[in-house]
Amino acid sequence: MCGIVGYIGEKEANDILISGLEKLEYRGYDSAGVAVISNSAININKKKGRVEIVKSAAKLSGTIGISHTRWSTHGAPSDRNAHPFTDQSGQFAVVHNGIIENYLELKEELRNEGVQFSSDTDSEVIVHLVAKNYQGNLQEAVLKTIKRLQGAYAFCVIKADSPEIIGARNGSPLVIGLGKKENFFASDVSAIIEHTREVIYLNDFQIARITKELVEVRNFHGEEQPLDVREVNWTLEKAQKQGYKHFMLKEIFEQPDVIRETLKVPIHLSKNFSRIIVVACGTASYASLVGKYLIEEIAKIPVIYEIASEFRYKENLLNQHDLVVVISQSGETADTLAAVRLAKEKGAKTVGIVNVVDSTIAREVDERIYTRAGPEIGVASTKAFISQLIIMYKLAFHLAGKEFNSGEIEPKIKEVLSKHEEIKRLAQKYYLYQNFLYIGRNRNFPLALEGALKLKEISYIHAEAYPAGELKHGPLALVSEEMPTLAICPKDSVYAKTFSNIEEIKAREGKVITIATEGDQDIRKVSNDVIYIPKVEEIFYPLLCTIPLQLFAYYIAELKGHDPDHPRSLAKSVTVE
Ligand code: G6P
Repeated sequence: MCGIVGYIGEKEANDILISGLEKLEYRGYDSAGVAVISNSAININKKKGRVEIVKSAAKLSGTIGISHTRWSTHGAPSDRNAHPFTDQSGQFAVVHNGIIENYLELKEELRNEGVQFSSDTDSEVIVHLVAKNYQGNLQEAVLKTIKRLQGAYAFCVIKADSPEIIGARNGSPLVIGLGKKENFFASDVSAIIEHTREVIYLNDFQIARITKELVEVRNFHGEEQPLDVREVNWTLEKAQKQGYKHFMLKEIFEQPDVIRETLKVPIHLSKNFSRIIVVACGTASYASLVGKYLIEEIAKIPVIYEIASEFRYKENLLNQHDLVVVISQSGETADTLAAVRLAKEKGAKTVGIVNVVDSTIAREVDERIYTRAGPEIGVASTKAFISQLIIMYKLAFHLAGKEFNSGEIEPKIKEVLSKHEEIKRLAQKYYLYQNFLYIGRNRNFPLALEGALKLKEISYIHAEAYPAGELKHGPLALVSEEMPTLAICPKDSVYAKTFSNIEEIKAREGKVITIATEGDQDIRKVSNDVIYIPKVEEIFYPLLCTIPLQLFAYYIAELKGHDPDHPRSLAKSVTVE
């Protein structure tokens, strides 16, 4: 996590660096800082808290600089732990995204040499090492420094009297933006897209040097690499709120468009494998769990569901007959990326279902399927989730060799969205509870997981999701009038079973909000509140259920006065383990 921006050119760097950081706040917002070179000196402005705090301070003058927005790993969110860091002479400054795993050892070594540290971070060792290794050439000093670093990183370094910025990447993303008499570094394209559409995605083990006229990329052995310039084809407008109070709300309402676009994505996947392993993190992992149900049901192919952070450290018994499908909105999640690399190492074929074009996962998988959600800014994933579900449906039908008749989805999703006021009223009724239970069965069970995750992420209410049939093995003991349950119970093949589970909750004085199919009057008898969704072919209920779950969490967060776009302690792109 953390976001980095670097600028070198003829314009004032300060504003460019700060507006870039604003686009990267989804990567963390514990502190922000800028360092700008002026008259061969580095001036720094950094503070705990959101980018707007640094933005409101006096502007630093100069045309070369680096900046950072932080998601804390080592060291509490504070002014002293805010990036950029300088060495003791104040000649060098660094911003870093990632974790330097051997920082304690390096810190000890540097301390023994008399270096005094000004922060509790792992990142600060980088700048002291660069200063120590500097012998007249900044790039060489960074290359030497890299040899000492273990862990994941993307970082940028400047030197007070050098008209250049050096950036290096191993594990965390870093992009170079190419301009006229100006060049950029950024963790992601959104930070620089208002200035340029020509970019070079650095690969792992690459270092780049940019000046205002020139860009050069080398590998970690110092050998020059060809420049792979790509054109970005989306606009900044898509990454703005367009009148909505929050990005999350806008993104929820964009879902009919996202569905329409993603339905157009072609799937060409050969069927010569014996089993599928789906791997992802967070919301994407719940989309992959829906995928497991769908592929097994529709295509009759066994699917193993794995959480990426577990997958990478367990015995997976993978072989060349396996197909590993990873799902990632950002295409940068460290654990998911590691899963791709592991699967490739074991000879399995890898497919990535990714939203961000040309992201690291998209580049490393054998085959990529792009969801067409457009830029998703809200930290809690919404429209990316629905686009991932759509791809899972398409994949299941493709693997089954069957036609996917999707005509009813988009209009029915719009119908559910039109119930937003009703869902808002329910949020008003329930927002003061401190615990929630979410239940569902079969392909709607992952939706219970996703609904509970949304509530936890943005409203900070404890929510547990269970397969409805598993209630009696524990969570039923928690049920009382203090702990409402959100039950997903559309008219499908397990309706009667879930209905009985709702009765069990009612018998224990639990309050129940049920997502049910329009026309189902019986459900009213066992529910305190019902959110009706239109009747559809039963396999499509997960898509329809998504909407009320998202809106319910959103309105509760809003009522509690939280900013759903920036939930505490979370970040959108998790590039550390
Ligand atoms: C973070 C985000 C989640 C997201 C997860 C996986 O935790 O806050 O919204 O689902 O990462 O991210 P990915 O980019 O791999 O889908």
